[in-house]
Amino acid sequence: MKIGLLTSGGDCQALNATMRGVVKGLYANVDELEVYGFYDGYKGLIYSKYRLLTSSDFSGILTKGGTILGTSRQPFKLMREPDENGLNKVEAMKSTYYKLNLDCLVILGGNGTQKTANLLREEGLNIIHLPKTIDNDIYGTDVTFGFYSAINIATEAIDCIHTTAASHNRVFIVEVMGHKVGWLTLYAGVASGADIILLPEMPYDDKKIISAIERRHKNGKGFTILAVAEGAISKEDAKLNKKDLKKKQEKEHYPSVSYKIAEMITKETGVEARVTVPGHTQRGGSPCPYDRVLCTRLGSAAAKAIMDQKYGNMVAMINGETKLVPLADVAGKLKVVDPDCKMVKEARRIGISFASKDD
Ligand code: F6P
Repeated sequence: MKIGLLTSGGDCQALNATMRGVVKGLYANVDELEVYGFYDGYKGLIYSKYRLLTSSDFSGILTKGGTILGTSRQPFKLMREPDENGLNKVEAMKSTYYKLNLDCLVILGGNGTQKTANLLREEGLNIIHLPKTIDNDIYGTDVTFGFYSAINIATEAIDCIHTTAASHNRVFIVEVMGHKVGWLTLYAGVASGADIILLPEMPYDDKKIISAIERRHKNGKGFTILAVAEGAISKEDAKLNKKDLKKKQEKEHYPSVSYKIAEMITKETGVEARVTVPGHTQRGGSPCPYDRVLCTRLGSAAAKAIMDQKYGNMVAMINGETKLVPLADVAGKLKVVDPDCKMVKEARRIGISFASKDD
């Protein structure tokens, strides 16, 4: 059996742990196995940059963050465009696959990566996709690997801010990763006892942010902590189309939405507001125990899918069980936070504000 492996898009803590699961599952059950690792995501497949890996490459990597193969962002929308030298990328990927005589290509990545994986499936390649992202926004799986490790880091960042915020009677904003969806901010915000949580799915109202801060002041709390997703958006900005929003943001010159909110808070309340951005630390370090288990299970289930030749699927975790979900059914769909979901309601019930229409 010959398989190819690649990791594409933003990295996360648990890519190596997942590849280890796949390959160990195959080595233990397949007589003759060749594993080709493509460097830097789809780039390696396009430009035929790969290495034959051995079982020792997968030893000792369960706890190792990042990816032993390297990764890069290769936007899906440009996949059908020729590269700067006129190379047809899709044909180049197919030619590498056929040249190596692969039985299957195992692709680890998020939404964009999944769309290209589906494109390759449509082009006739045998594909297995594994759902990676700290954003937890892949449709068709309850959870993605990287998500829980990132929650731990974002939570710790907010925890650290908590003690200093209390000492200084300030407002602190911690900006959590997630441009399109707010899963990470929601979980880290609840886990760390943030007072206000702002998500891309729930456009915020400045007045509601201010009244939540004032309510805390009235109750004798001198500080307030906001967990703000990178993609949080005001209710006014949410009404703009993409082009007008981009123009407005360029004019405003804020490094990110958190700085805009901080300025507004200080202007309206006179209280000092500070911004902390943990940024890429959220994707770094080693996978947490939950992710190690998740990756081992998903990887092992992927090995079984390959041995059973059940190609064209994402290996998902649904209700605690690994399941194969057809790529055709999920590619291009996003799993967003439902503003009416139980978790949001439960958080509101204990006094967390989302500064949104129902707060
Ligand atoms: O897709 C995962 C993610 O970590 C997002 O949460 C974040 O906005 C983005 O990647 C950052 O990507 P990059 O490292 O390319 O700036």
